[in-house]
Amino acid sequence: MRLHVVEHPLIAHKLTVLRDERTPSPTFRQLTEELVTLLAYEATREVGTEPVRISTPVTSTIGTRIADPQPIVVPILRAGLGMLEGMTRLLPTAEVGFLGLQRDEDTLEAITYANRLPDDLTGRQCFVLDPMLATGGTLVASIEYLFERGARDVTAICLLAAPEGLGAVEEAVGDRADVTIVTAAVDEGLNEKAYIVPGLGDAGDRLYGVV
Ligand code: URA
Repeated sequence: MRLHVVEHPLIAHKLTVLRDERTPSPTFRQLTEELVTLLAYEATREVGTEPVRISTPVTSTIGTRIADPQPIVVPILRAGLGMLEGMTRLLPTAEVGFLGLQRDEDTLEAITYANRLPDDLTGRQCFVLDPMLATGGTLVASIEYLFERGARDVTAICLLAAPEGLGAVEEAVGDRADVTIVTAAVDEGLNEKAYIVPGLGDAGDRLYGVV
């Protein structure tokens, strides 16, 4: 597993506003999209490309385009949905799959309640959107889903990560595949309710309200 903590003044600034408990949902949603776009810029550095011949108004030349099969973006419902727009703004040709996982607040285990993914992900670059890498349960379950369908190249974009979650993904993935975590920060750890500290609270609630 590779870890990429993206350091940039704009990322640090936006993350600080997200952390602030006074930030209202509309601002939180807007900033999440902006932050994801910045993280996506780094996360897509190794996206597959191929040469393409084009004509400019002046001459013919060889350019670059994103290669087929197109990458697939997988937001983990519900909070990952708040990251989708920020990602597809940068990668508009990507296919979008959905995975509905939520953690059982007692056992902290990930439960699947929705799944809309292609059956065969062999050779596909997969970008998983999951804002909070806390215990790692949800992300590990998501990665296993993608592995079962043949994916071996997975990049997870997380707003925040805890050392415990990073450890869990590392242990689960081993050397089975190429997995990269791209995040804005690695926080101190988890509290007794498995919230990231200092964190930003419940990302789903802050994006969409408590339902
Ligand atoms: N999920 C969240 O939304 N926040 C946390 O701090 C941990 C998991």
